[in-house]
Amino acid sequence: MAYRVITDRVFEVGAIDWNRRSFDELVPLHEGTSYNSYLIKGSEKIALIDTVDPKMLNVLIDNLKSSGVAKIDYIISNHAEQDHSGCIPEILKLFPDSKVVTNEKCKNFLKDLLLLKDEDFITINDGEKISLGDKTLRFILFPWVHWPETMLTYLEEDKILFSCDLFGSHVADSRLFATKDDEIMIYEGAFRYFSEIMYPFRDNIRNQLSKVTELDIKYIAPSHGQVYEKPEFIINCYKEWISPDVKNKVVIAYNSMHGSTEKMVVYLTSELTKRNITVVPFHLSVTDIGKLAMEITDAATVVVGSSQVLGGMHPSVAYALYFYNLLRPKTKFISVIGSYGWGGKMLEQIQSMLYNLKAELISPVIAKGYPKEEDFNNLSKLADTILENHKKIGIAQ
Ligand code: FEO
Repeated sequence: MAYRVITDRVFEVGAIDWNRRSFDELVPLHEGTSYNSYLIKGSEKIALIDTVDPKMLNVLIDNLKSSGVAKIDYIISNHAEQDHSGCIPEILKLFPDSKVVTNEKCKNFLKDLLLLKDEDFITINDGEKISLGDKTLRFILFPWVHWPETMLTYLEEDKILFSCDLFGSHVADSRLFATKDDEIMIYEGAFRYFSEIMYPFRDNIRNQLSKVTELDIKYIAPSHGQVYEKPEFIINCYKEWISPDVKNKVVIAYNSMHGSTEKMVVYLTSELTKRNITVVPFHLSVTDIGKLAMEITDAATVVVGSSQVLGGMHPSVAYALYFYNLLRPKTKFISVIGSYGWGGKMLEQIQSMLYNLKAELISPVIAKGYPKEEDFNNLSKLADTILENHKKIGIAQ
């Protein structure tokens, strides 16, 4: 893959990972992703902003060679996670006079993760600048997007914000710039990225977003996906995604061994639909866990459905709940439905796993064996209660 031009002396020299199909060994990727690395040639100094995932080192090196760069003075590390920092040791070997420029926290991470030494670094503070001659880099500490050391770098003369993971998207595309026609694809890729990586830190983003909106920005250049020529598109997406508001929506995450729980899910889905509530059921044997995370971000209510297996919830439900709890969702109401043969501790297990939730529990509906008339009546009541709760918080009529 060739390097790509942003402005006459600013280049993207990273790698597109067309074939990556899982991120963090957790979330499926349908479109691949990219690890963007940016080269800035000032009149006196040359800077490289972040590197790439170590498995794509050869792409970065080829791009640096073809860009004709003879030296790198500064390697800016916006974030210590290895998909961006992992090639720093190799770049330091190739350009032994270069220094890693980052904040104190990131420096300590890089020493731990990549075994770098103190003498490899220039440490900067929030708001500090370095000059490349006719270009100036300003560093903006922006912790917890999504690690404690994360920062943004702003190229003042070209008005480019290098935002690292913030505003990133899982998109693999040879075209560097996102156009208006790409917005649906970008929305999906960026929302998938946000839902797994940034959603748990939405309050941190909301509290710090003015650091971005007060800048005069021509391009946002994240570390994953395309460069935004119209930054307001992704900023507006983020404003919606980080909102504390929830929607008149129910996500049902379930598994069913012999069809009893599934019958209850189908019935409840129909009852909620009749009440004009959006319902998104996920059978966990076939679910894209990334899509589940996306749908959960703004659902007012989550219903967990499970058969009981060996006295407990189905293991696929446990896996999904573990991830759901880690996301610290803003779910307002939660309930459980399911079926059992001879007993078990499913309810207690589910409650104990969801310690990050501040949701109100609505009475569960658990059937003995296949659901009967009383169970269906209870599911209708559950749908009524969900509607009443949604009305109470002003999201349903
Ligand atoms: Fe893309 Fe947090 O690394």
